[in-house]
Amino acid sequence: MAEPLVEMHNITKQFPGVRALSDVSISLLPGEVHALVGENGAGKSTLIKILSGVLRPDAGEIIWRGKKIEFSSPLEALACGIGAIYQEFNLVPQLTVAQNIMLGQAPHRWGAILEDEMHRRARVALAQLGFELDAHTPVSELNVAQQQIVEIAKALARELQLLIMDEPTAALNQMEIKRLFDVIRKLKSQGVTVLYISHRLREIFEIADVVTVLKDGKLVDSRPIKEVSEDAVVRMMVGRELANIYPPKNTATATPVLKVEGLSLRGVLENISFELHRGEILGIAGLEGQGQRHLVRAIVGAIPHDHGTIYRDGRPVTIDSPADALKAGIAFIPEDRKAKGLILVRSVQENISLPSLWERIRLLFIDERRERDFVGHLIERLGIKVSRPSQIARNLSGGNQQKVVVAKSLGVRPEVLVMAEPTRGVDVGAKSEVHHIMRDLAAQGVGILMVSSELPEILGMSDRVLVMSQGRIVAEMSGDQATEEAIIAAATMGGVQEKAA
Ligand SMILES: Nc1ncnc2c1ncn2[C@@H]1O[C@H](COP(=O)(O)OP(=O)(O)OP(=O)(O)O)[C@@H](O)[C@H]1O
Ligand SMILES: [Mg+2]
Repeated sequence: MAEPLVEMHNITKQFPGVRALSDVSISLLPGEVHALVGENGAGKSTLIKILSGVLRPDAGEIIWRGKKIEFSSPLEALACGIGAIYQEFNLVPQLTVAQNIMLGQAPHRWGAILEDEMHRRARVALAQLGFELDAHTPVSELNVAQQQIVEIAKALARELQLLIMDEPTAALNQMEIKRLFDVIRKLKSQGVTVLYISHRLREIFEIADVVTVLKDGKLVDSRPIKEVSEDAVVRMMVGRELANIYPPKNTATATPVLKVEGLSLRGVLENISFELHRGEILGIAGLEGQGQRHLVRAIVGAIPHDHGTIYRDGRPVTIDSPADALKAGIAFIPEDRKAKGLILVRSVQENISLPSLWERIRLLFIDERRERDFVGHLIERLGIKVSRPSQIARNLSGGNQQKVVVAKSLGVRPEVLVMAEPTRGVDVGAKSEVHHIMRDLAAQGVGILMVSSELPEILGMSDRVLVMSQGRIVAEMSGDQATEEAIIAAATMGGVQEKAA
C-alpha cells in the first residue's frame, strides 16, 4: 500500500445556522483521481476549501505526507504543492489572461516582469488544454467557458502534487472536457493526485479511481470506482432509490404561444423561424456553439438582433431587454446564473420573490403571509438548502444558488419559459424535480423553450426538437422520432466538422 499523500481526519466546520461538515475523514493516495460527490449543500466545496487553506476547520486535522499541517492561507497550501480551482472563479477581471495565469509567479529580473517569458509560459499552459486564447485579453472580456479554461491553465502553470477541481466542467463543451480529461490522465501518470468534484456521474465513472460520497456534511463512504455502480452512488448521495426516468409527456396543443420569424444576427444567427405551442416543451439541440445560446438570448432581449420579428399570441412584440420579455410574459433562466441570475448580497427570499412581488401586494403593503408561503413553497419544492429564507444568497452552496434562480423564474408564472441548461450544476434529485416542474407547467399551458447540451435531457423532455448548426435550424423532429443518433447526424451535417478539429 502506498503512503497517502494527504489525510483529513475528523474535520468539522460550522457556519451560522448550519453544520457544513461533521467528523469527515478522507485519504488521498499519490497519483489517484479521487472524486468527491454529494447533493447540493452536502459540504464538498467547504471540505476542499479547508484542504486548500481558504477556510479553517473547527475541529480535525490534516496530515500532509505524514506530517500534521495547518494552512492559514491558500498561498501556504500552494507552497506545499496544493492548488485548487474553485466553483466560484478566482480571477482578477482587470488583468490579462497571461497575468492571471502567472499571478504570484511571474518571471522577473531585477524587479521587472519579463513580459515575453510570462506570455510564453501562459501560452504553454493554455496549449496543454489545446486552447487558443489571446493571452493579452483582459479576463473581464471572457465568457464563462474561457474563464474556466484560464482557471485550469493557472493551476497547470504551477508545480502541483495535489490539484483540486470543483466542478471544472460545468461550463465546458464536449471537446474541452475531453482535453481536460487528457490533461488529468497526464498529470496522474506523473504522480499528481487530483481531487475532482462533479455532479455528472458519467464523468466520475470515466475519470476517477475512487469516489467519496458526502451527505448532509457527513461522510457516507469512500469506495474504489470499480466496486460501485452509478445507481449505488446515487443511492449513497440521496439516501433513497431514485427513479431514473423522465416524467411522462403530455400532449401539446397546436396554438402558438410564441412565434419567431426570420431572426438574424450577423455571423451568429441566420434567418431563424419557428413556433412554440401552448403546453409544449421545445428542445434546441446541436453541437456546442452553433448559436443555440445566442438564439434564446436574442429572443428575450439579452442581446440585440439585426432582423426578425417575435410574436406573442399572434401579435408582434418589441423586446429590447429581459424586462421587456417579462412584460410580454416570457421568463428567462440564463445559463450563467451566478453573474446574471442572482443578487448575491440579497436574501434568498428577496431573490425569489422580487420579480413577482407585485402579485402579493395589497393596498401598497406586502402581504407577508402569502409572501412567506410563496417563497417557502418554492424552497421546499426545489429542495433548496437554506438555514432560513433570509439567508444571504452568497452563502448558499453553488448548486443551491442555481436552484434559487430557477425558483425565481417559476415564481413569475410566465406563459413562455425560456431555459438555458435548466439543470446544470444541480444535483440528481433536484434535477428530476426541475423536470417534473417543467412538465407541470407545460400541462398548465406554459410553452417552454429549452436549450440543453445534454442529449438525454433533450430526448427525455422535448415534445419536439430543433437541431441547430452554424446559426441555422437544420432539422426538426418530433419527440418520438428523435434519437441521439438522429440528432447527432443532423447536427454534424453541413460542414461543422472543421470546428471540432
Ligand atoms: N460562508 C458561508 N456562510 C454560511 N453558510 C455557508 C457558507 N458557505 C457554505 N455554507 C453552507 O454550508 C453548506 C455546505 O456548502 P458547500 O458549498 O460546501 O456545499 P457543496 O457540497 O459544495 O454544494 P454544491 O453542489 O451546491 O456546490 C451549505 O448548507 C451552505 O449553505
Ligand atoms: Mg460546491
